Amino acid sequence: MTVRANQTQNHSAIRDRLRSIPAVYFLYGILMRCVFETRAFIATAVWAASSKNQKHSPLPPPRLLHRVCGSFSAEDYLDSGRKDFKKLSNIFKCLEIRKNQPAKILDFGCGSSRTLRHFFELDSAWEYFRTDLDQEAVEWNQTNFHGQANWCANQVTPPTQFRDNNFDVIYAISIFTHLDEQLQRVWLQEFKRILKDDGTLIITVHGKAVWKDKKDWRQKVQSNGMYFMHTHKGIRNLTRTPSHYHTALHCRDYILATWSSIFPNIQYVDAESHNEHDYVILSRRGFSVVKNISSFI
Ligand SMILES: C[S@@+](CC[C@H](N)C(=O)[O-])C[C@H]1O[C@@H](n2cnc3c(N)ncnc32)[C@H](O)[C@@H]1O
Repeated sequence: MTVRANQTQNHSAIRDRLRSIPAVYFLYGILMRCVFETRAFIATAVWAASSKNQKHSPLPPPRLLHRVCGSFSAEDYLDSGRKDFKKLSNIFKCLEIRKNQPAKILDFGCGSSRTLRHFFELDSAWEYFRTDLDQEAVEWNQTNFHGQANWCANQVTPPTQFRDNNFDVIYAISIFTHLDEQLQRVWLQEFKRILKDDGTLIITVHGKAVWKDKKDWRQKVQSNGMYFMHTHKGIRNLTRTPSHYHTALHCRDYILATWSSIFPNIQYVDAESHNEHDYVILSRRGFSVVKNISSFI
């Protein structure tokens, strides 16, 4: 999430200094893990106590919450999910993907359904699919949203189990913000295979709003088009993210130039604040330009 990119920015100067003294850096890692585990323990106890009287749809356990929104807070998870859902619905509306017309929608890298759970509240003819490599999240989804979407788990690299020309819409929120260039390329190819000819792909990225104020990030992104920033995980791999998973920053021109070899039609929508992701809307065939796009970002 963008939240994580900003946290990385705030802490990286301290970490760089500590890293030059390995013993101190090691102790810092242990301290950070203790703090994280204590907070996770308290949040899990509160979650377990409150989930008994819960009236709304189930909330994921705090460790899963943290993996998708960088916080243990249920409000952050629900509010940010609702906000992203609104942006997606607006794009759907602009592209004339209507609720009363059947459509197959895939949430790629769904995590614990932060956005998709809001689609379930719609009265629509849409059929939902979701996939992730996080087995714990997939199992939580299967148990808690049983029957509301078709589930599967995928590997770090393609293929998925889906057949060719299958989906009307694929969206990937906060996934390409964490993959390196090679993984991005192979996943774009896989999306091309499983998306219908006239289907739409929606991907979020960390664009200019995220990196423009940080000089060394800006230089790296602008000189290479994208910058894949390895986060030293070590003992502090707090949320136990997989080894391929770091932070990717993108330049708009790079995306327009390179992704267009796979999806010739691209619309790039800049975020308005540094806490937001940019949206990239892609298709093999032409699509109507998304109008009034600034109304939802
Ligand atoms: C920041 S979370 C975002 C989750 C969800 N899309 C959301 O918006 O809440 C990133 C997700 O990407 C998933 N992920 C990372 N690499 C993946 C891959 N190669 N295939 C599928 N999912 C992946 C992670 O497991 C994690 O659930």
